[in-house]
Amino acid sequence: MLVMTIESSCDETSAAVIEDGRRILSNAVASQIPVHRRYGGVVPELASRNHIRAIHTVIDQALEEADVTLAQIEGFAVTAGPGLVGSLLVGIETAKAFAFAFDRPCVGLNHLEAHLTTILLELPEVESPQFPYLGLVVSGGHTDLYVVYDLGDYELLGRTRDDAAGEAFDKVAKMLGLPYPGGVAIDRLSRKGDPKRHDFPRPMWTRTNLDFSFSGLKTAIALHIEEYGVPEGQELADLCASFQEAVVDVLIFKALTACRQRDLERVVLSGGVACNRRLRERIRQDCAEAGVESFIAPARLCTDNAAMLGPIAEARLKPMNSSGFTGHHIRAHATMTLGRTSRTTSRAHR
Ligand code: KG4
Ligand code: ZN
Repeated sequence: MLVMTIESSCDETSAAVIEDGRRILSNAVASQIPVHRRYGGVVPELASRNHIRAIHTVIDQALEEADVTLAQIEGFAVTAGPGLVGSLLVGIETAKAFAFAFDRPCVGLNHLEAHLTTILLELPEVESPQFPYLGLVVSGGHTDLYVVYDLGDYELLGRTRDDAAGEAFDKVAKMLGLPYPGGVAIDRLSRKGDPKRHDFPRPMWTRTNLDFSFSGLKTAIALHIEEYGVPEGQELADLCASFQEAVVDVLIFKALTACRQRDLERVVLSGGVACNRRLRERIRQDCAEAGVESFIAPARLCTDNAAMLGPIAEARLKPMNSSGFTGHHIRAHATMTLGRTSRTTSRAHR
């Protein structure tokens, strides 16, 4: 099946053309980072307006790169949540309009489910993991651990009780006067820093619970800055590296604890923070030492993009297409059914 996927949940406007749910024919991404940088974070109203400006260009680009026309697209899939409401609406309304105009089915998909299953795309750099696997989603809005039994069959094991890891990176960077997105700046500076220079807390360091918490670590940095001021040069690099190491330690400790508890042999890391060089390096090393296989998508597919919707888009659209479902019956919902616990992560859209 030839599917167009659209993502506009935060500050990236993206459209992709995916074949058979696995093959990326194109994946156009327009980033709004320069727009939001001067405010130190994403401004929702600006994000929605810029999605409107970018979406048609991005769709044209995706079609051109894939060398297909809209008429050849057999179904549309769009991120329907969680995300910024105004931003999501731009993608949803565009997808629905095209589906209606071309009489094709359209599905709304869950953003976390997309991050969790990105690794199932056909990638020259990494092989796809077998099911079941442990999915660690680390982004600006989420830090979640799931067992992925199959496409559409997930069990939530733990999540952050306060800040997401990416949010902690962004907030700490802001305190240090570093540019948005903070994770990228901290990652870069940490390469020259000593991760053992400061012993910051590793929150929720316990084998009995798989939840995370990052607000205490953020406070520890704030207190450090209050006492010693914002560091510069080598001191700044050491502070960044020490903070980053604390986050990485906790993420890996919990992921490996979950694998042990559930007898899982594979870990899949995803979400924007999965671009972090130290996290990628440590997850490979620590998993190998623990006898667990690790899988990480290339960095371009870890931050928000439309191609990551491919595997679930195909799974949802294919049955609709073969039963003659058309754009007149648009189905758009952001419900991610967590099979084993039946928890829903966001509200339905219509
Ligand atoms: O998945 P994503 O693009 O958007 C959300 O769904 O939230 O993740 C964005 C987050 C931001 O918090 C950003 O600071 C973080 O990913 N991030 C990083 C790196 N690159 C992006 N964090 C740490 N190191 C990086 N290299
Ligand atoms: Zn994301």
